[in-house]
Amino acid sequence: MADKVAFITGGASGIGAAFAKQLAGRNTEVILADRQLGLAEEIAAAIRQSGAEATAVELDVRDASQFEQVVDDTIGRTGRIDYLFNNAGIGVGGAILGYTLPDWYDVFDVNLRGVAHGIQAVYPVMCRQGSGHIINTASMAGLLPTGEAASYAATKHAVVGLSKSLRIEAKEHGVKVSALCPGAIRTPILTTGKYGRLNLKEGAETKVMELWEHVRPMNVDVFARKALRDIERNKPIIIVPSFWKAFWWLERFSPNVSLWLWGKVYGHFRDELEPYRLP
Ligand SMILES: NC(=O)c1ccc[n+]([C@@H]2O[C@H](COP(=O)([O-])OP(=O)(O)OC[C@H]3O[C@@H](n4cnc5c(N)ncnc54)[C@H](O)[C@@H]3O)[C@@H](O)[C@H]2O)c1
Repeated sequence: MADKVAFITGGASGIGAAFAKQLAGRNTEVILADRQLGLAEEIAAAIRQSGAEATAVELDVRDASQFEQVVDDTIGRTGRIDYLFNNAGIGVGGAILGYTLPDWYDVFDVNLRGVAHGIQAVYPVMCRQGSGHIINTASMAGLLPTGEAASYAATKHAVVGLSKSLRIEAKEHGVKVSALCPGAIRTPILTTGKYGRLNLKEGAETKVMELWEHVRPMNVDVFARKALRDIERNKPIIIVPSFWKAFWWLERFSPNVSLWLWGKVYGHFRDELEPYRLP
């Protein structure tokens, strides 16, 4: 029987799946909650083969009542949840001038409302337990200005603010809260993943990936190992890979220089992506 129980949204792919594998190796039962049930089941089966406990459940984090139900079912079976990874996320690219309302709302619904749904469902359980750790996946886009990802950056800034605010409230209940801010990690989301979109012409994925290579995306298993070390240390804001901390430091030390720098980076990306613009 496992020591702890971890509930991971977006557990079927990328960062969520990597956390699941690492936690399973640390005597933790993992629940992989995702819209992509088939993929989540494959990962859960591989984890069970290694002798650990893993379950896949279908969950669309946009649906608050489904979230409550899945959490109730989990508690009914396991009796507790020690970690909530509010990790499911999507991105929608493109300049704001070309944005439609769904380009905003689709991202808000998953990345922000989805996190709120997770907190509503699990935080009271952890308060009753008198223990637990909520890890909300934000992004470096939650700490820095990010061109052509306005809806994404808006939600990730909100997740950082939400996590810091909840952290000071949750302490008296014995509950820990961290905002996880990955830099670039080699997962499907770099080219939008299953439910996001680039808003560029077909074939742009190769170019986008070529641009990502400039910031050396980190292997996802290495990322999960490093991030878990900081989660165990209960850090309020977790930045991995650590070289991104220099950019966060610059943002706080001199927001104007930081804006200038990211404006330059954006200009380069914008020019490189010009041939792929939709008419
Ligand atoms: N990979 C990176 O470079 C990077 C950087 C910063 C932040 N992040 C964040 O990390 C988190 C995980 O992303 P990833 O890199 O593993 O990408 P990914 O695309 O591999 O995984 C995202 C997962 O979320 C699931 N998902 C999407 N919408 C959902 C919904 N409505 N309900 C339930 N599940 C849903 C997808 O099915 C997928 O399994 C996201 O919040 C992302 O914004 C990633």
